[in-house]
Amino acid sequence: MVNIADLRRLAQRRLPKVVFDYLDGGAEGEVTLRENSRVFEDVTFRPRQAVAIEKCDLSTRVLGHETAFPAMLAPVGYSRLMHPGGEVAAAQAAGEFGTGYILSTISGHKLEKVKAASRGPVWYQLYLVGGRAAAERAMERIRVAGFSALVITVDTAVAGMRERDPRNGMKQLLGGSLLAKIPFVPDIVSHPAWLSGFLLDGGVPKLENIVLENNQPMTLMDVSAALAASVVEWADLQWLRKAWPGPILVKGVLTGDDARRAVDEGAAGVIVSNHGGRQLDGVSASLRALPEVVAAVGARTEVLMDGGIRRGSDIVKAICLGARAVLLGRGYAYGLAAAGHAGVVRALEILREDVERTMRLLGCASVAELNGSFVEAPRSWRR
Ligand SMILES: Cc1cc2nc3c(=O)[nH]c(=O)nc-3n(C[C@H](O)[C@H](O)[C@H](O)COP(=O)(O)O)c2cc1C
Repeated sequence: MVNIADLRRLAQRRLPKVVFDYLDGGAEGEVTLRENSRVFEDVTFRPRQAVAIEKCDLSTRVLGHETAFPAMLAPVGYSRLMHPGGEVAAAQAAGEFGTGYILSTISGHKLEKVKAASRGPVWYQLYLVGGRAAAERAMERIRVAGFSALVITVDTAVAGMRERDPRNGMKQLLGGSLLAKIPFVPDIVSHPAWLSGFLLDGGVPKLENIVLENNQPMTLMDVSAALAASVVEWADLQWLRKAWPGPILVKGVLTGDDARRAVDEGAAGVIVSNHGGRQLDGVSASLRALPEVVAAVGARTEVLMDGGIRRGSDIVKAICLGARAVLLGRGYAYGLAAAGHAGVVRALEILREDVERTMRLLGCASVAELNGSFVEAPRSWRR
């Protein structure tokens, strides 16, 4: 496993097509999905040669936490479908690398168990699925468990149209009747390693962190409809600030105007993101939107970004363009799907070695010293 593309291929072999495509795919024509990664090619490095650096300092500070590596693990829903270790395995690996993990609301392991698995900071990404009362119960639980920040995702007014999912029978896998599953059985049974893990893990997991009025966790199949019925609006930020005493980050910002709005509403940070090209297809690549957001709010708040990061050099470019740190989505989830905890560890090893090598080749000794002078970005990006 030399790079993230190798882990992706391994994940593709181990997972049934329905699960792999859920992880790998994007919305509609997948234009934004492709562009998220391609756009890194538009940024070139400007190295300082003949500089000897023995060891680079890769640490940074995110919301007051010292992290050993400038990439955190993004919220990835349904992680337990990819591997039984799911969110617990990913959080544990993040902690071992001295970095943070963000737990999605759409998670199969109990949030207390996820927090306990990690030595690093753990944040909670909140969807209002299940309504405000369910969200308040989750916020109380994360406060008691010791989560250090809340992430509010604002780009999911409805679920994006990920065309691979209906073709492969994602809905039928999660909730359909036995009869409805029949056309998709060959895909599942031809992946016995995944299937045995899935069955031993109890089959389709419940959403352990969305506890409904009846004190029962929500079942997975309810999610798409529930997402559409639980849009977050700016006005909700006031209520959230009362319900959650810690810092709030707004995830899914793509313009300077929305970034300013988020900060005005009290956000402690913004995450430039298009949900990995899974929501509105045709929006700009995250990296392309980053300079505008940094120009708008970089002096007032911390700006993180995610989308398309598959190499350490991508991480370095995003930091040079003003991100405090980045989030990895598929970059670690391919590893999780390929080999559970060991796969996430391998993904993080690859990326950490990449970042260190890139910085030494650039002639830069620490992440704190990375800045715009190390890269050339298209002129039209500057605002
Ligand atoms: C399979 C999958 C599930 C995701 N689930 C969530 C989620 O539950 N909540 C959320 O805010 N973002 C979710 N995202 C978006 C990621 O947090 C992140 O923004 C995106 O993956 C970054 O792009 P990348 O995968 O190219 O790194 C998901 C992404 C993937 C690939």
